[in-house]
Amino acid sequence: MSDSNLLTNLQASFIGIDTEYPTVDGQRGPRIYLDSAASTLMMAPAYEVGHEFLEHYASTHSDLHYAARSASHAFDWAHECVLRFVDADTDRYCAFFAGSGATAGFNRMAASLSRARPERKVVLVSEMEHHSNDLPHRHHCSQVVHVPCMGEFERYGGLDMDKLRAIFEEYGEKINYIAVTGASNVTGAITPLAEVAKLAHAVGAYVVVDASQMIAHAPVSMNDADIDVLVFSGHKIYAPGSPGAVIAKKTVLSEIKPAELGGGMVDDVYIAEYMPTETLPDREEAGTPNIVGGIMLGAVLDLLTRVGMDKVREKEIGLIDYTWNALKDIEGVSVYGPEPADVPRTGTIAFNIKGFDHGLTAAALNDFHNIQVRNGCFCAHPYVRELLKKEMWDMDIDPDAPNAEADVERKRGMARASLGLYTTQADLEKLIAAVRDLTSRRDEILSLYEPIGSNGYRHSSFAPAPRDLFDPKRLLGNFLATSA
Ligand SMILES: Cc1ncc(COP(=O)(O)O)c(C=O)c1O
Repeated sequence: MSDSNLLTNLQASFIGIDTEYPTVDGQRGPRIYLDSAASTLMMAPAYEVGHEFLEHYASTHSDLHYAARSASHAFDWAHECVLRFVDADTDRYCAFFAGSGATAGFNRMAASLSRARPERKVVLVSEMEHHSNDLPHRHHCSQVVHVPCMGEFERYGGLDMDKLRAIFEEYGEKINYIAVTGASNVTGAITPLAEVAKLAHAVGAYVVVDASQMIAHAPVSMNDADIDVLVFSGHKIYAPGSPGAVIAKKTVLSEIKPAELGGGMVDDVYIAEYMPTETLPDREEAGTPNIVGGIMLGAVLDLLTRVGMDKVREKEIGLIDYTWNALKDIEGVSVYGPEPADVPRTGTIAFNIKGFDHGLTAAALNDFHNIQVRNGCFCAHPYVRELLKKEMWDMDIDPDAPNAEADVERKRGMARASLGLYTTQADLEKLIAAVRDLTSRRDEILSLYEPIGSNGYRHSSFAPAPRDLFDPKRLLGNFLATSA
Protein backbone atom coordinates (compact mmCIF):
# COMPACT_ATOMS: atom_id res chain seq x y z
CA MET A 1 0.00 0.00 0.00
CA SER A 2 1.37 3.45 -0.88
CA ASP A 3 1.73 6.05 1.89
CA SER A 4 -1.14 8.10 0.50
CA ASN A 5 -3.45 5.06 0.33
CA LEU A 6 -2.53 4.30 3.90
CA LEU A 7 -3.36 7.87 4.94
CA THR A 8 -6.71 7.74 3.12
CA ASN A 9 -7.57 4.39 4.71
CA LEU A 10 -6.59 5.61 8.16
CA GLN A 11 -8.69 8.74 7.78
CA ALA A 12 -11.71 6.54 7.18
CA SER A 13 -10.91 4.15 10.02
CA PHE A 14 -12.02 5.98 13.15
CA ILE A 15 -14.49 4.51 15.62
CA GLY A 16 -17.42 6.82 16.36
CA ILE A 17 -16.87 9.28 13.53
CA ASP A 18 -20.39 8.68 12.21
CA THR A 19 -22.22 8.20 15.49
CA GLU A 20 -25.68 9.66 15.09
CA TYR A 21 -27.25 12.12 17.51
CA PRO A 22 -30.58 13.97 17.55
CA THR A 23 -30.92 17.66 16.69
CA VAL A 24 -33.50 20.27 17.66
CA ASP A 25 -35.38 19.90 14.37
CA GLY A 26 -36.28 16.29 15.24
CA GLN A 27 -33.74 14.83 12.81
CA ARG A 28 -30.92 12.43 13.64
CA GLY A 29 -27.59 12.41 11.86
CA PRO A 30 -23.84 11.79 12.10
CA ARG A 31 -21.95 14.15 14.35
CA ILE A 32 -19.12 16.41 13.25
CA TYR A 33 -16.40 15.93 15.81
CA LEU A 34 -14.30 19.08 16.25
CA ASP A 35 -13.07 18.42 19.79
CA SER A 36 -9.84 16.57 19.06
CA ALA A 37 -7.68 18.92 21.15
CA ALA A 38 -9.50 17.60 24.22
CA SER A 39 -9.36 13.97 23.12
CA THR A 40 -9.20 12.27 19.75
CA LEU A 41 -11.33 9.41 18.46
CA MET A 42 -9.96 5.88 18.40
CA MET A 43 -8.09 4.61 15.35
CA ALA A 44 -9.78 1.28 14.54
CA PRO A 45 -6.76 -0.81 13.41
CA ALA A 46 -4.93 0.14 16.60
CA TYR A 47 -7.98 -0.75 18.68
CA GLU A 48 -8.10 -4.10 16.92
CA VAL A 49 -4.48 -4.78 17.86
CA GLY A 50 -5.37 -4.08 21.51
CA HIS A 51 -8.49 -6.23 21.26
CA GLU A 52 -6.60 -9.12 19.68
CA PHE A 53 -3.88 -8.79 22.31
CA LEU A 54 -6.51 -9.55 24.96
CA GLU A 55 -6.57 -13.10 23.54
CA HIS A 56 -2.99 -13.32 24.81
CA TYR A 57 -3.40 -11.13 27.86
CA ALA A 58 -1.06 -11.59 30.78
CA SER A 59 1.08 -9.21 32.77
CA THR A 60 4.54 -8.28 31.54
CA HIS A 61 7.93 -8.82 33.23
CA SER A 62 8.17 -12.53 32.52
CA ASP A 63 8.83 -14.64 29.45
CA LEU A 64 8.38 -18.10 30.90
CA HIS A 65 4.78 -18.68 29.92
CA TYR A 66 3.62 -17.91 26.39
CA ALA A 67 1.16 -15.15 27.22
CA ALA A 68 3.58 -13.25 29.48
CA ARG A 69 6.21 -13.62 26.77
CA SER A 70 3.82 -12.14 24.17
CA ALA A 71 2.79 -9.32 26.50
CA SER A 72 6.39 -8.39 27.36
CA HIS A 73 7.41 -8.47 23.71
CA ALA A 74 4.43 -6.35 22.56
CA PHE A 75 4.91 -3.85 25.39
CA ASP A 76 8.62 -3.49 24.49
CA TRP A 77 7.56 -2.94 20.88
CA ALA A 78 5.20 -0.15 22.02
CA HIS A 79 8.14 1.64 23.68
CA GLU A 80 10.15 1.29 20.46
CA CYS A 81 7.25 2.77 18.45
CA VAL A 82 7.17 5.80 20.74
CA LEU A 83 10.91 6.41 20.34
CA ARG A 84 10.73 6.01 16.57
CA PHE A 85 7.74 8.33 16.28
CA VAL A 86 9.49 11.24 18.00
CA ASP A 87 12.78 10.48 16.23
CA ALA A 88 14.63 9.74 19.46
CA ASP A 89 17.84 7.76 19.07
CA THR A 90 17.69 4.62 21.25
CA ASP A 91 21.29 5.12 22.39
CA ARG A 92 20.45 8.53 23.85
CA TYR A 93 16.78 8.33 24.78
CA CYS A 94 14.41 6.13 26.77
CA ALA A 95 10.59 6.10 26.66
CA PHE A 96 8.34 5.18 29.55
CA PHE A 97 4.58 5.22 30.14
CA ALA A 98 3.02 7.10 33.05
CA GLY A 99 -0.49 7.60 34.38
CA SER A 100 -3.41 8.27 32.06
CA GLY A 101 -1.99 11.29 30.26
CA ALA A 102 0.65 13.99 30.12
CA THR A 103 -0.23 15.32 33.59
CA ALA A 104 1.43 12.33 35.27
CA GLY A 105 4.61 12.90 33.24
CA PHE A 106 4.89 16.58 34.22
CA ASN A 107 4.34 15.88 37.89
CA ARG A 108 6.99 13.16 37.77
CA MET A 109 9.55 15.29 35.96
CA ALA A 110 8.92 18.41 38.07
CA ALA A 111 9.36 16.43 41.30
CA SER A 112 12.43 14.55 40.07
CA LEU A 113 14.29 17.41 38.40
CA SER A 114 13.76 19.81 41.31
CA ARG A 115 15.09 17.16 43.70
CA ALA A 116 18.04 16.29 41.45
CA ARG A 117 19.27 19.87 40.94
CA PRO A 118 18.33 21.87 44.06
CA GLU A 119 21.03 24.45 43.37
CA ARG A 120 19.15 25.49 40.20
CA LYS A 121 16.11 27.08 41.78
CA VAL A 122 14.44 28.68 38.78
CA VAL A 123 12.08 27.01 36.29
CA LEU A 124 10.79 28.85 33.22
CA VAL A 125 7.20 28.21 32.09
CA SER A 126 5.55 29.91 29.13
CA GLU A 127 2.35 31.93 29.55
CA MET A 128 0.61 29.72 26.98
CA GLU A 129 0.80 26.55 29.05
CA HIS A 130 -2.01 24.17 29.93
CA HIS A 131 -2.26 23.98 33.75
CA SER A 132 -0.71 20.50 33.53
CA ASN A 133 2.56 22.02 32.40
CA ASP A 134 2.45 24.90 34.85
CA LEU A 135 1.06 23.87 38.23
CA PRO A 136 3.35 20.84 38.82
CA HIS A 137 6.35 23.16 38.38
CA ARG A 138 4.84 25.77 40.70
CA HIS A 139 4.23 23.02 43.26
CA HIS A 140 7.62 21.30 43.16
CA CYS A 141 10.08 24.06 42.23
CA SER A 142 11.27 27.02 44.31
CA GLN A 143 10.69 29.75 41.73
CA VAL A 144 8.73 29.75 38.49
CA VAL A 145 9.31 32.58 36.03
CA HIS A 146 6.61 32.89 33.38
CA VAL A 147 7.82 33.66 29.86
CA PRO A 148 5.64 36.09 27.88
CA CYS A 149 4.40 35.63 24.32
CA MET A 150 4.46 37.93 21.32
CA GLY A 151 1.70 40.28 20.18
CA GLU A 152 -1.11 41.64 22.29
CA PHE A 153 -4.76 41.15 23.11
CA GLU A 154 -6.49 38.72 20.72
CA ARG A 155 -3.27 38.15 18.75
CA TYR A 156 -1.21 37.20 21.82
CA GLY A 157 0.70 33.96 21.31
CA GLY A 158 3.89 32.27 20.22
CA LEU A 159 6.85 32.42 22.59
CA ASP A 160 8.56 35.84 22.61
CA MET A 161 12.12 34.72 21.81
CA ASP A 162 13.67 38.14 22.56
CA LYS A 163 12.15 38.17 26.03
CA LEU A 164 13.15 34.54 26.51
CA ARG A 165 16.76 35.39 25.60
CA ALA A 166 16.73 38.22 28.16
CA ILE A 167 15.33 35.87 30.84
CA PHE A 168 18.05 33.29 30.13
CA GLU A 169 20.66 36.07 30.45
CA GLU A 170 19.15 37.31 33.70
CA TYR A 171 18.84 33.95 35.47
CA GLY A 172 21.62 31.97 33.70
CA GLU A 173 22.79 28.93 35.63
CA LYS A 174 20.08 29.33 38.25
CA ILE A 175 17.68 27.82 35.70
CA ASN A 176 16.95 24.13 36.14
CA TYR A 177 14.73 23.71 33.05
CA ILE A 178 12.24 25.41 30.79
CA ALA A 179 8.81 23.78 30.42
CA VAL A 180 7.19 24.79 27.18
CA THR A 181 4.40 23.56 24.98
CA GLY A 182 5.15 22.38 21.44
CA ALA A 183 1.79 23.88 20.39
CA SER A 184 -0.84 25.77 22.37
CA ASN A 185 -4.09 23.98 23.18
CA VAL A 186 -5.91 27.32 22.80
CA THR A 187 -4.53 28.84 19.61
CA GLY A 188 -2.35 26.07 18.17
CA ALA A 189 0.66 28.45 18.13
CA ILE A 190 3.82 26.37 17.58
CA THR A 191 7.05 26.91 19.55
CA PRO A 192 10.48 26.93 17.83
CA LEU A 193 11.80 24.09 20.00
CA ALA A 194 15.32 23.80 18.55
CA GLU A 195 15.98 27.50 19.26
CA VAL A 196 14.64 27.18 22.79
CA ALA A 197 16.87 24.14 23.39
CA LYS A 198 19.97 26.05 22.22
CA LEU A 199 19.28 28.90 24.64
CA ALA A 200 18.61 26.48 27.49
CA HIS A 201 21.64 24.30 26.89
CA ALA A 202 23.95 27.34 26.77
CA VAL A 203 23.32 27.74 30.53
CA GLY A 204 23.06 24.01 31.32
CA ALA A 205 19.26 24.07 31.62
CA TYR A 206 17.01 21.30 30.31
CA VAL A 207 14.07 21.60 27.94
CA VAL A 208 10.86 19.83 28.95
CA VAL A 209 8.39 19.87 26.06
CA ASP A 210 4.65 19.41 26.34
CA ALA A 211 3.92 17.70 23.03
CA SER A 212 0.27 16.96 23.87
CA GLN A 213 -1.05 19.25 21.14
CA MET A 214 1.78 18.82 18.69
CA ILE A 215 2.05 15.07 18.65
CA ALA A 216 -0.92 14.36 16.34
CA HIS A 217 -0.34 17.35 14.09
CA ALA A 218 3.31 17.92 13.22
CA PRO A 219 6.55 15.94 12.96
CA VAL A 220 8.76 16.00 16.07
CA SER A 221 12.46 15.19 16.06
CA MET A 222 13.96 14.99 19.54
CA ASN A 223 17.34 14.26 17.94
CA ASP A 224 17.33 17.33 15.70
CA ALA A 225 15.88 19.76 18.23
CA ASP A 226 18.04 18.23 21.00
CA ILE A 227 15.06 18.04 23.37
CA ASP A 228 15.81 16.65 26.82
CA VAL A 229 12.34 15.54 27.89
CA LEU A 230 9.11 15.28 25.88
CA VAL A 231 5.72 14.35 27.30
CA PHE A 232 2.39 13.61 25.63
CA SER A 233 -0.96 11.89 26.19
CA GLY A 234 -1.89 8.83 24.13
CA HIS A 235 -5.55 9.87 24.08
CA LYS A 236 -4.58 12.96 22.09
CA ILE A 237 -3.22 10.79 19.29
CA TYR A 238 -6.01 8.37 18.48
CA ALA A 239 -5.57 5.95 21.38
CA PRO A 240 -8.11 6.81 24.10
CA GLY A 241 -7.49 4.61 27.13
CA SER A 242 -3.75 4.62 26.63
CA PRO A 243 -1.21 6.05 29.09
CA GLY A 244 0.87 9.21 29.02
CA ALA A 245 4.30 8.87 27.40
CA VAL A 246 7.56 10.40 28.60
CA ILE A 247 10.67 10.33 26.44
CA ALA A 248 13.84 11.55 28.11
CA LYS A 249 17.56 11.54 27.58
CA LYS A 250 19.14 8.65 29.43
CA THR A 251 21.63 11.11 30.92
CA VAL A 252 18.72 13.01 32.48
CA LEU A 253 17.05 9.85 33.79
CA SER A 254 20.29 8.58 35.29
CA GLU A 255 20.56 11.84 37.24
CA ILE A 256 17.16 11.49 38.91
CA LYS A 257 15.78 9.12 41.50
CA PRO A 258 12.64 7.21 40.46
CA ALA A 259 9.64 9.27 41.62
CA GLU A 260 7.34 6.27 41.98
CA LEU A 261 8.18 3.11 43.87
CA GLY A 262 6.67 -0.34 43.88
CA GLY A 263 6.94 -3.64 42.07
CA GLY A 264 8.88 -4.04 38.84
CA MET A 265 11.39 -1.24 39.46
CA VAL A 266 13.66 -2.85 42.06
CA ASP A 267 16.41 -5.46 41.79
CA ASP A 268 15.91 -6.57 45.37
CA VAL A 269 14.19 -5.63 48.60
CA TYR A 270 15.14 -6.44 52.20
CA ILE A 271 13.47 -5.26 55.37
CA ALA A 272 16.38 -2.90 55.93
CA GLU A 273 16.91 -1.64 52.37
CA TYR A 274 15.91 -1.85 48.69
CA MET A 275 17.82 -1.53 45.44
CA PRO A 276 16.12 0.27 42.54
CA THR A 277 17.11 -1.25 39.23
CA GLU A 278 19.39 0.61 36.85
CA THR A 279 17.47 -0.90 33.90
CA LEU A 280 15.40 1.58 31.91
CA PRO A 281 12.49 1.97 31.39
CA ASP A 282 11.69 -0.51 34.24
CA ARG A 283 13.10 1.88 36.85
CA GLU A 284 10.48 4.48 35.82
CA GLU A 285 7.52 2.10 35.48
CA ALA A 286 6.58 1.01 38.99
CA GLY A 287 3.56 -1.26 39.23
CA THR A 288 1.61 -3.19 36.61
CA PRO A 289 1.51 -0.96 33.55
CA ASN A 290 -1.41 -0.14 31.25
CA ILE A 291 -0.28 -2.84 28.84
CA VAL A 292 -3.29 -2.82 26.50
CA GLY A 293 -3.29 0.97 26.26
CA GLY A 294 0.46 1.08 25.63
CA ILE A 295 0.16 -1.48 22.84
CA MET A 296 -2.73 0.39 21.18
CA LEU A 297 -0.70 3.60 21.34
CA GLY A 298 2.30 1.79 19.84
CA ALA A 299 0.08 0.59 16.99
CA VAL A 300 -1.18 4.12 16.25
CA LEU A 301 2.35 5.50 16.27
CA ASP A 302 3.63 2.71 14.04
CA LEU A 303 0.90 3.44 11.46
CA LEU A 304 1.49 7.19 11.56
CA THR A 305 5.26 6.70 11.24
CA ARG A 306 4.56 4.76 8.04
CA VAL A 307 2.35 7.58 6.73
CA GLY A 308 4.86 10.29 7.73
CA MET A 309 3.81 13.17 9.96
CA ASP A 310 5.02 15.64 7.35
CA LYS A 311 2.13 14.40 5.15
CA VAL A 312 -0.35 14.76 8.01
CA ARG A 313 0.88 18.30 8.61
CA GLU A 314 0.72 19.18 4.92
CA LYS A 315 -2.91 18.07 4.76
CA GLU A 316 -3.86 19.97 7.89
CA ILE A 317 -2.30 23.31 6.94
CA GLY A 318 -4.82 23.88 4.12
CA LEU A 319 -7.72 23.12 6.48
CA ILE A 320 -6.35 25.46 9.18
CA ASP A 321 -5.93 28.35 6.75
CA TYR A 322 -9.40 27.80 5.29
CA THR A 323 -11.10 27.71 8.73
CA TRP A 324 -9.16 30.64 10.19
CA ASN A 325 -9.88 32.90 7.22
CA ALA A 326 -13.50 31.85 6.81
CA LEU A 327 -14.30 32.36 10.52
CA LYS A 328 -12.45 35.67 10.60
CA ASP A 329 -14.46 36.92 7.63
CA ILE A 330 -17.81 36.39 9.36
CA GLU A 331 -19.16 39.67 10.71
CA GLY A 332 -19.25 39.54 14.52
CA VAL A 333 -16.84 36.59 14.91
CA SER A 334 -13.48 36.95 16.68
CA VAL A 335 -10.69 34.41 16.24
CA TYR A 336 -7.82 34.27 18.69
CA GLY A 337 -4.08 33.89 18.54
CA PRO A 338 -1.38 35.05 16.15
CA GLU A 339 -2.09 35.10 12.41
CA PRO A 340 -1.05 31.76 10.87
CA ALA A 341 1.31 33.72 8.59
CA ASP A 342 3.13 35.14 11.66
CA VAL A 343 3.32 32.03 13.85
CA PRO A 344 2.79 28.51 12.49
CA ARG A 345 -0.09 26.72 14.19
CA THR A 346 -1.80 23.38 14.54
CA GLY A 347 -5.47 22.73 13.83
CA THR A 348 -6.92 24.35 16.93
CA ILE A 349 -8.98 27.49 16.44
CA ALA A 350 -10.57 29.41 19.30
CA PHE A 351 -13.34 31.86 18.49
CA ASN A 352 -16.30 33.80 19.86
CA ILE A 353 -19.50 35.04 18.31
CA LYS A 354 -20.54 38.55 19.30
CA GLY A 355 -23.55 38.46 21.63
CA PHE A 356 -23.08 34.75 22.44
CA ASP A 357 -21.39 33.49 25.58
CA HIS A 358 -18.92 30.72 24.77
CA GLY A 359 -21.18 28.10 26.38
CA LEU A 360 -24.10 29.16 24.26
CA THR A 361 -22.05 28.86 21.07
CA ALA A 362 -21.01 25.31 21.98
CA ALA A 363 -24.54 24.28 23.01
CA ALA A 364 -26.22 25.74 19.92
CA LEU A 365 -23.64 24.23 17.53
CA ASN A 366 -24.37 20.87 19.13
CA ASP A 367 -28.16 21.12 19.35
CA PHE A 368 -28.88 22.71 15.96
CA HIS A 369 -25.98 21.52 13.82
CA ASN A 370 -24.62 18.34 15.46
CA ILE A 371 -21.17 19.95 15.65
CA GLN A 372 -19.13 19.11 18.75
CA VAL A 373 -16.73 21.83 19.96
CA ARG A 374 -15.37 22.61 23.43
CA ASN A 375 -15.78 25.86 25.33
CA GLY A 376 -14.31 27.61 28.35
CA CYS A 377 -10.71 28.42 29.21
CA PHE A 378 -9.36 24.96 28.25
CA CYS A 379 -7.25 24.66 31.44
CA ALA A 380 -5.11 27.54 30.20
CA HIS A 381 -6.75 30.34 32.21
CA PRO A 382 -3.86 32.86 32.20
CA TYR A 383 -3.46 32.60 28.43
CA VAL A 384 -7.19 32.81 27.68
CA ARG A 385 -7.59 35.83 29.97
CA GLU A 386 -4.73 37.58 28.18
CA LEU A 387 -6.35 36.93 24.78
CA LEU A 388 -9.70 38.29 26.06
CA LYS A 389 -8.29 41.25 27.96
CA LYS A 390 -9.37 44.01 25.60
CA GLU A 391 -12.85 42.56 25.05
CA MET A 392 -13.31 42.26 28.80
CA TRP A 393 -12.17 45.82 29.38
CA ASP A 394 -14.64 46.97 26.70
CA MET A 395 -17.40 45.17 28.66
CA ASP A 396 -16.17 46.82 31.87
CA ILE A 397 -15.05 43.46 33.28
CA ASP A 398 -11.71 42.95 34.99
CA PRO A 399 -10.29 39.91 33.14
CA ASP A 400 -8.13 38.98 36.13
CA ALA A 401 -10.69 39.37 38.92
CA PRO A 402 -10.57 36.18 41.02
CA ASN A 403 -13.74 34.27 41.97
CA ALA A 404 -15.86 36.10 39.41
CA GLU A 405 -19.64 35.74 39.40
CA ALA A 406 -21.11 33.07 37.08
CA ASP A 407 -22.31 35.67 34.55
CA VAL A 408 -18.71 36.96 34.22
CA GLU A 409 -17.31 33.43 33.90
CA ARG A 410 -19.79 32.75 31.12
CA LYS A 411 -18.09 35.54 29.17
CA ARG A 412 -14.54 34.60 30.15
CA GLY A 413 -13.82 31.93 27.61
CA MET A 414 -14.10 30.86 24.00
CA ALA A 415 -15.42 28.12 21.78
CA ARG A 416 -12.71 25.93 20.27
CA ALA A 417 -12.86 23.89 17.08
CA SER A 418 -10.02 21.41 16.83
CA LEU A 419 -9.11 19.08 14.01
CA GLY A 420 -8.06 15.46 13.78
CA LEU A 421 -6.88 13.17 11.01
CA TYR A 422 -10.55 12.44 10.23
CA THR A 423 -11.56 16.10 9.79
CA THR A 424 -12.58 16.96 6.23
CA GLN A 425 -13.03 20.18 4.31
CA ALA A 426 -16.76 19.39 4.26
CA ASP A 427 -16.83 19.26 8.10
CA LEU A 428 -15.26 22.69 8.27
CA GLU A 429 -17.58 24.13 5.64
CA LYS A 430 -20.47 22.92 7.82
CA LEU A 431 -18.89 24.63 10.82
CA ILE A 432 -18.61 27.91 8.93
CA ALA A 433 -22.21 27.65 7.68
CA ALA A 434 -23.38 26.84 11.22
CA VAL A 435 -21.57 29.82 12.74
CA ARG A 436 -23.11 32.06 10.06
CA ASP A 437 -26.51 30.59 10.89
CA LEU A 438 -26.10 31.32 14.62
CA THR A 439 -25.00 34.92 13.97
CA SER A 440 -28.08 35.47 11.80
CA ARG A 441 -30.52 34.05 14.42
CA ARG A 442 -29.01 35.51 17.55
CA ASP A 443 -32.18 36.81 19.21
CA GLU A 444 -34.14 33.65 18.49
CA ILE A 445 -31.37 31.44 19.90
CA LEU A 446 -30.86 33.62 22.97
CA SER A 447 -34.58 33.32 23.74
CA LEU A 448 -34.41 29.50 23.61
CA TYR A 449 -31.60 28.95 26.12
CA GLU A 450 -31.03 29.43 29.80
CA PRO A 451 -27.61 29.58 31.48
CA ILE A 452 -26.49 26.69 33.68
CA GLY A 453 -23.70 27.50 36.15
CA SER A 454 -20.63 29.37 34.95
CA ASN A 455 -19.91 27.45 31.76
CA GLY A 456 -23.05 26.02 30.21
CA TYR A 457 -26.37 26.68 28.55
CA ARG A 458 -29.41 24.48 28.14
CA HIS A 459 -32.17 24.61 25.52
CA SER A 460 -35.53 25.18 27.21
CA SER A 461 -37.26 22.18 25.63
CA PHE A 462 -34.60 20.06 23.90
CA ALA A 463 -32.24 18.23 26.25
CA PRO A 464 -31.82 14.48 25.60
CA ALA A 465 -30.72 12.69 28.76
CA PRO A 466 -27.19 11.24 28.73
CA ARG A 467 -28.57 7.72 29.19
CA ASP A 468 -30.63 8.11 26.00
CA LEU A 469 -27.36 8.72 24.13
CA PHE A 470 -25.25 6.01 25.72
CA ASP A 471 -26.09 3.88 28.70
CA PRO A 472 -23.58 1.33 29.99
CA LYS A 473 -26.28 -0.16 32.24
CA ARG A 474 -28.46 -0.88 29.20
CA LEU A 475 -25.60 -2.82 27.58
CA LEU A 476 -25.12 -4.83 30.75
CA GLY A 477 -28.89 -5.37 30.76
CA ASN A 478 -28.68 -6.91 27.27
CA PHE A 479 -26.02 -9.32 28.49
CA LEU A 480 -27.96 -10.14 31.63
CA ALA A 481 -31.11 -10.75 29.56
CA THR A 482 -29.33 -13.24 27.30
CA SER A 483 -27.85 -14.92 30.39
CA ALA A 484 -31.22 -15.32 32.12
C1 LIG B 1 -1.29 21.23 25.88
C2 LIG B 1 -1.80 20.24 26.88
N1 LIG B 1 -0.98 19.83 27.84
C3 LIG B 1 -1.35 18.93 28.76
C4 LIG B 1 -2.62 18.41 28.77
C5 LIG B 1 -3.01 17.43 29.83
O1 LIG B 1 -3.23 16.18 29.30
P1 LIG B 1 -3.88 15.00 30.18
O2 LIG B 1 -5.16 15.55 30.73
O3 LIG B 1 -4.07 13.91 29.20
O4 LIG B 1 -2.92 14.65 31.25
C6 LIG B 1 -3.53 18.81 27.78
C7 LIG B 1 -4.91 18.29 27.77
O5 LIG B 1 -5.84 18.94 27.35
C8 LIG B 1 -3.10 19.76 26.81
O6 LIG B 1 -3.92 20.18 25.84
